[in-house]
Amino acid sequence: MSGNPAILAPSILAANHAQLAEGQRTIVEAGLSWVHLDIMDGHFVPNLSFGPKTVADLRKESELYFDTHLMLDNPQDYIEAFAKAGSQNITIHVEPDIPVEDTLKAIRALGCHCGISLNPGTPIEDIQPFLELVDLVLIMTVQPGFGGQSFREDQLPKIKQTAQWREEKGLTYRIQVDGGVDATTGPLCKEQGADTLVAGTAFFKAEDKEAFITLLQE
Ligand code: DX5
Ligand code: ZN
Repeated sequence: MSGNPAILAPSILAANHAQLAEGQRTIVEAGLSWVHLDIMDGHFVPNLSFGPKTVADLRKESELYFDTHLMLDNPQDYIEAFAKAGSQNITIHVEPDIPVEDTLKAIRALGCHCGISLNPGTPIEDIQPFLELVDLVLIMTVQPGFGGQSFREDQLPKIKQTAQWREEKGLTYRIQVDGGVDATTGPLCKEQGADTLVAGTAFFKAEDKEAFITLLQE
């Protein structure tokens, strides 16, 4: 195992966007330390969410670790703005035709942790060249763009493969899973080696958040 303590990172995309600070307070009051910020451009994914100003305003409201997931065609153009807004991890996707290695290095140069992510249709081998450069690998278990979709169990082997590479190469990156994670699918991901789980819908809808958190962070 990686030795990374298990983390549940609620996606604030699933909160009420007219009261995002309230959604963030819910995460803080649940005793969690990360918030997952889904940034969407309407190009790389068929949806829009929010930008650097929203992140900067949320930054003033909490000490949470801002885990920022850029679902953008041109993330390299926005990493500085999100770093300045208070992002502490910035994850980019491997699919856009951009200088991925340079962008990951630029994120680190801004003083942030960096992550690489891939969609369900992308082979896990596509992220292999970047493993030595990242603090986090984000495996999408839904086609990104919307919360509340069904978890795709066919993505579980990617988690196992990423965990094997981490072991073989003596690396310590976090393995994060995002999309349809709930009380049933979360443990499946952890069994394969994931240590960082994103949950939007399941977290904000959970009646007993303490039990949900215990299950996914134990
Ligand atoms: C989807 C986002 C996910 C999503 C997770 O594009 O990247 O973070 O918000 O939402 P749930 O947990 O509701 O599936
Ligand atoms: Zn996400």
